[in-house]
Amino acid sequence: MPGKIIVTGASGAMGAAAVRALASQGKPVMMACRNLEKATRVRDEILASQRGADLEIRHLDLSSMDSVRAFAAGLEGERISALFNNAGVISRRYELTQDGLEHTFAVNYFGPVLLTRLLLSQMEPCAHLVNMVSLTCRFARLSVESLQPAPGDFSQLGTYACAKLALVHFSLELARRRSDLLLNLADPGIVNSNMISMGRWFDPLADVLFRPLCKTPEQGVRPALAALSSDTRLQYYIGKRTLALPGRYDDPILELRLWEETDRILFGEKN
Ligand SMILES: NC(=O)c1ccc[n+]([C@@H]2O[C@H](COP(=O)([O-])OP(=O)(O)OC[C@H]3O[C@@H](n4cnc5c(N)ncnc54)[C@H](OP(=O)(O)O)[C@@H]3O)[C@@H](O)[C@H]2O)c1
Repeated sequence: MPGKIIVTGASGAMGAAAVRALASQGKPVMMACRNLEKATRVRDEILASQRGADLEIRHLDLSSMDSVRAFAAGLEGERISALFNNAGVISRRYELTQDGLEHTFAVNYFGPVLLTRLLLSQMEPCAHLVNMVSLTCRFARLSVESLQPAPGDFSQLGTYACAKLALVHFSLELARRRSDLLLNLADPGIVNSNMISMGRWFDPLADVLFRPLCKTPEQGVRPALAALSSDTRLQYYIGKRTLALPGRYDDPILELRLWEETDRILFGEKN
């Protein structure tokens, strides 16, 4: 029996498209979702056309580190062949989670980092790890202090871009520590999903003028699916291309400092 492929945010646009594609390849998938009703609807819809697909739903709220820990504890003893850190959010306003973390950073960075760290020991040799990032990363500037932004530092896209950039740097540091993992990054481009609604006055206009130009979720998730079936490491999957990670992201000193600060925040220690 092959190990499970875990897809976070499997109830969302690209998450569901990923699960559908993986199920069609006969792969066993664990759908890690915060909204179980929505996840069940997605699973039932896939099962209607792919009877017998091996799809399991488990609860995971990446904004709560207790939920991440509970999810990981529930997987004890399971073999994991791949983890697709797909879930993400663009928070509309500055808000702290129950852990005292800024919400965008909790969901896009701290949650996926903690999840990955807790599951590492159960990942099969040469397991795939794919982190969903964003082209907004290239406009972000990150320091250790950015991990816990103050209210005045917050902006919808700016904070999101920083959190995704932090995930890129985490990936680079993890790749240094775990050379056996097939760890790659996937950038979907701009995709027609809930994510691109900003909760602003111009949304209806964007729905008419902008959405039709965006990729479909099926197109957007293709780079991630390619990464999930490749034997590459630290490649940047975007569109139909596979690129070496751009040199601007290569900053081992920053990466070590981010790793240590993240450890302090998540585990109360330096590793
Ligand atoms: N759309 C784009 O243009 C674009 C561009 C670049 C990168 N991305 C990235 O692609 C990934 C997928 O986005 P999408 O476009 O498919 O958006 P989406 O349809 O909004 O899906 C986002 C998924 O993340 C889940 N999620 C949000 N907060 C969560 C939490 N606290 N705990 C667990 N899951 C949570 C959502 O759960 P619910 O179903 O419960 O809401 C949903 O399943 C994200 O990482 C996003 O940042 C998207």
